[in-house]
Amino acid sequence: MPIFSFCFTASLYLTNKPMGSSFGRLFRVTTYGESHGEALGCVIENCPAGLTLTEADIQPDMDRRRPGQSRITTPRDEADRVKILSGTFEGKTIGAPISMAVFNENAREKDYSDIKDIFRPSHADYTYHARYGHRAWRGGGRSSARATIGIVAAGAVAKKILREKAGVEIVAYVSQIKDLKFTGDVDLGKITALREVIEANPVRTPDAVLAEKMTRLIQDTRQAGDSLGGIVECAAVGVPAGWGDPVFDRLDALIAHAMLAIPATKGIEIGSGFNAVSMTGKEHNDIFEMQNGKVTTRTNHSGGIQGGISNGMPITFRTAFKPTATISHEQPSVNERGENVMLKVKGRHDPCVLPRAVPIVEAMLALVLVDQFLIAKTAQYDSL
Ligand SMILES: Cc1cc2nc3c(=O)[nH]c(=O)nc-3n(C[C@H](O)[C@H](O)[C@H](O)COP(=O)(O)O)c2cc1C
Repeated sequence: MPIFSFCFTASLYLTNKPMGSSFGRLFRVTTYGESHGEALGCVIENCPAGLTLTEADIQPDMDRRRPGQSRITTPRDEADRVKILSGTFEGKTIGAPISMAVFNENAREKDYSDIKDIFRPSHADYTYHARYGHRAWRGGGRSSARATIGIVAAGAVAKKILREKAGVEIVAYVSQIKDLKFTGDVDLGKITALREVIEANPVRTPDAVLAEKMTRLIQDTRQAGDSLGGIVECAAVGVPAGWGDPVFDRLDALIAHAMLAIPATKGIEIGSGFNAVSMTGKEHNDIFEMQNGKVTTRTNHSGGIQGGISNGMPITFRTAFKPTATISHEQPSVNERGENVMLKVKGRHDPCVLPRAVPIVEAMLALVLVDQFLIAKTAQYDSL
């Protein structure tokens, strides 16, 4: 290799190489770990000191994300007990990096050894091979949803800061599985009651009757060796007007980035989303009015964001997830030697990722919003 080329490559590696494993500007989160490695987790930089924080604040969201939690998730049974390794003393944050870890206990390498050189259709096997050459084929390595453990752990800390220091609450639920849609209204004024309804069924949808139908559909589809996708709807209430930046770091752009960073996502709609195209300006405009001394809007087609900055109304959006890529039905594919082969997967997989995606969507939104909260606190110089 010519010396120039080597130096260029080396300097790229040492200085600018994009890693893609970190997120956020002030509340900076780096996640680590692979599906079948020793452990997974995250490191949070710049979490303010003085926040009470123990594993008990994190574990409830880990339990909502963990595999093996119900009959409609993957049977891989992991307790996903989180351990805080650094950054707290006597139950409070000390301003130092917070490191958290979950150790893998139920990894089964042999599920993957038969298919280690075959690219699963619509998974990340081929693209990781194209990019890195050497990849952790056990359970998809870094492309596995287990890599979202660090997201949910960091998100739990972010949610706690938002709740206790900014009065912001985040709630998400499944609003669609294939063609089964939740068409009711949710009361964002009663978040605790709403959470209870959502968490009372394994799908995490706000309607018990619909949940039964969705559960049956997921079970039948799994039996048929197939999988399903759907939509997670999410809202943040209590965000004041004025969070976010114009132009490239618009709050809606950051939320879209956050959502599309979750594995298996295919789209995001903010507020009225794609429905806006069939409305006129008269129908779509959110009319301002004063209520109890506060600027509010009669409707919320904007999804709480205008010009990239929050307007004080609930932030609302919908994230679309594709059907799980790994299915037990036999499919044609290609292997690393460039041969056409047949693929039959035996491993343990989610027939539908939606129920477990709910806490991940909440966590990614919390990471975006906690950053905006901290930026707003340090940005008094914006106006004198
Ligand atoms: C909660 C959750 C669970 C998932 N479980 C599986 C699974 O069991 N099997 C699988 O093939 N993909 C699963 N995925 C999706 C893959 O991680 C994802 O499809 C893969 O990394 C390729 O990325 P892409 O679909 O975004 O292109 C899951 C995703 C989430 C969010």
